[in-house]
Amino acid sequence: MGRRLEGRVVIATHNAGKLREMRELLAPYGVACQSAAELDLPEPPETGETFIENALIKARSAATIARLPAFADDSGLCVSSLNNEPGLHSARLARDVGGFPQAMGVIEQRLQERGCIAPDQRRAHFVSALALVWPDGHEETFEARVDGVIVNPPRGSAGFGYDPAFEPDGYDRTFGEMSAEEKHGIPADGSRALSHRARAFQALAKACLRG
Ligand code: IMP
Repeated sequence: MGRRLEGRVVIATHNAGKLREMRELLAPYGVACQSAAELDLPEPPETGETFIENALIKARSAATIARLPAFADDSGLCVSSLNNEPGLHSARLARDVGGFPQAMGVIEQRLQERGCIAPDQRRAHFVSALALVWPDGHEETFEARVDGVIVNPPRGSAGFGYDPAFEPDGYDRTFGEMSAEEKHGIPADGSRALSHRARAFQALAKACLRG
């Protein structure tokens, strides 16, 4: 059982898609959210070597400056045949090549250069690391993943980022073809959520938001 989160929390992200998803995930728990952008907080450099380290860097910075508990996520798409790239560099790849459609194109090109055509050569997973940091220095971290395949061409216009290129195991639609409810898939009966972020959040909720 982790420390209970009550009252207000800063969502330490400047990414509009992630902010929306975090608000959706926190909404049922009556925790009031403010974004790092609303509070004009700086974006610290993500110099960690793991998703958890990067989530902690963002949450620590926001908690220290805002003097409120802060919630941060670091996430990425890891493609098995590409040495788990883009991984920690998922956002950077999209920035470097001019957007997510282009970044999905680069991943596809790298897969084809390696002859990865069959679904089992195109395995990938999304990772989400969540960090909750309180102004007194207390920290809680959670990490989860969702496995699936990279499809070509990408399909769907829902969600954000690499969603159209990723089809989770057990589904014949990509995250880009799913509603937010379906992508998170947080079931009322307490069974397993679907998206990496929702799975990590489920663990966080169990430890810090309920009971
Ligand atoms: P960061 O966590 O801000 O470093 O960025 C992670 C990158 O991975 C972003 O560019 C996201 O677009 C991408 N990403 C993370 N989670 C998802 C997701 O649920 N769907 C699609 N792309 C994602």
